[in-house]
Amino acid sequence: MSSAPHIPVLGREAIAHLAPRDGGIYVDATFGAGGYSRAILEVPGTRLIAIDRDRTAITGGAELVERSAGRLALVEDRFSNLADVCAAQGIDTVDGVVMDVGVSSMQLDQAGRGFSFRLDGPLDMRMGQSGPTAADVVARASEGDLADIIYQLGEERHSRRIARAIVADRKDTPFTTTRALAELVARVVRSKPGDIHPATRTFQALRIFVNEELEELQTALAAAERVLTPGGRLVVVSFHSLEDRIVKNFLSERSKTGGGSRHLPEVAQVPPSFQLLTRRPIVAGDDEVAHNPRARSAKLRAAERTSAPAHQDGEQSSWPRLSDVMRGG
Ligand SMILES: C[S@@+](CC[C@H](N)C(=O)[O-])C[C@H]1O[C@@H](n2cnc3c(N)ncnc32)[C@H](O)[C@@H]1O
Repeated sequence: MSSAPHIPVLGREAIAHLAPRDGGIYVDATFGAGGYSRAILEVPGTRLIAIDRDRTAITGGAELVERSAGRLALVEDRFSNLADVCAAQGIDTVDGVVMDVGVSSMQLDQAGRGFSFRLDGPLDMRMGQSGPTAADVVARASEGDLADIIYQLGEERHSRRIARAIVADRKDTPFTTTRALAELVARVVRSKPGDIHPATRTFQALRIFVNEELEELQTALAAAERVLTPGGRLVVVSFHSLEDRIVKNFLSERSKTGGGSRHLPEVAQVPPSFQLLTRRPIVAGDDEVAHNPRARSAKLRAAERTSAPAHQDGEQSSWPRLSDVMRGG
């Protein structure tokens, strides 16, 4: 296999922790431009199932599939379905799952995808090609739901003011472009020179919401736990604190050994399904950040599957849900 066209964020560290070996079967849950996948295929004898919900990523990977001589299956799907995707390939267990979550620079840089407040385009923000767009959410969500979305998923303190202004303005003209929404936020949220763009948090919130990114991640981690063979590796690179918190909580809960009270009955203690490989997250070095500013917020966490059974799924967190909001519920 030839080398990657660009070096993905924390690529070297991610592959080092995944530790692909001859004869192993791996899942790259976020194919993107295929940087991680190429590195896995560089190891002779590996087999790889790669997933992306974005059809353009799948089309872009067609040539790599062809050159892989049957070692790479590239599937258009959500990574929350990764266990079913493997089963459809006739695979029940795998030796490693790697996830590099979030949007790709290819998606961010294309005005037509509507992710960027810096480029004018349709207010879309979907990574895949189905479901409601950001424009649909901005047009239909109640003021309370918009404020919750922007506050919880964007960690934006001015969420109520922004939601009120959206609802007031959309009566006259629906928001259909990234520029219109970015201008509204800039009008409502004052910023000083040197601050991040005032629309950064609102755009992040809508993107996470439209793509159900947190639910996807939580479901995919549990799916990875079910398909990983004992000794198999889970490696996750995330880009903001909400995602990293999910990964951190999942891995710390799954790797807890006993702990609790010695007076508790033994049945209450579920053996750990993972052993941590990274006590603290790995972050990009100054060199990588200098070449790729996006790497600044990247965090890598990794763990090795034990032979204990997968845990029961815990409670789902209480983020605003796309289906509830679009149903008006
Ligand atoms: C940061 S990029 C991955 C870059 C990749 N590691 C590389 O080396 O080129 C993230 C990719 O994951 C995809 N993605 C994000 N969330 C997804 C999900 N829930 N299901 C499937 N694909 C997803 C995006 O469409 C995007 O192409």
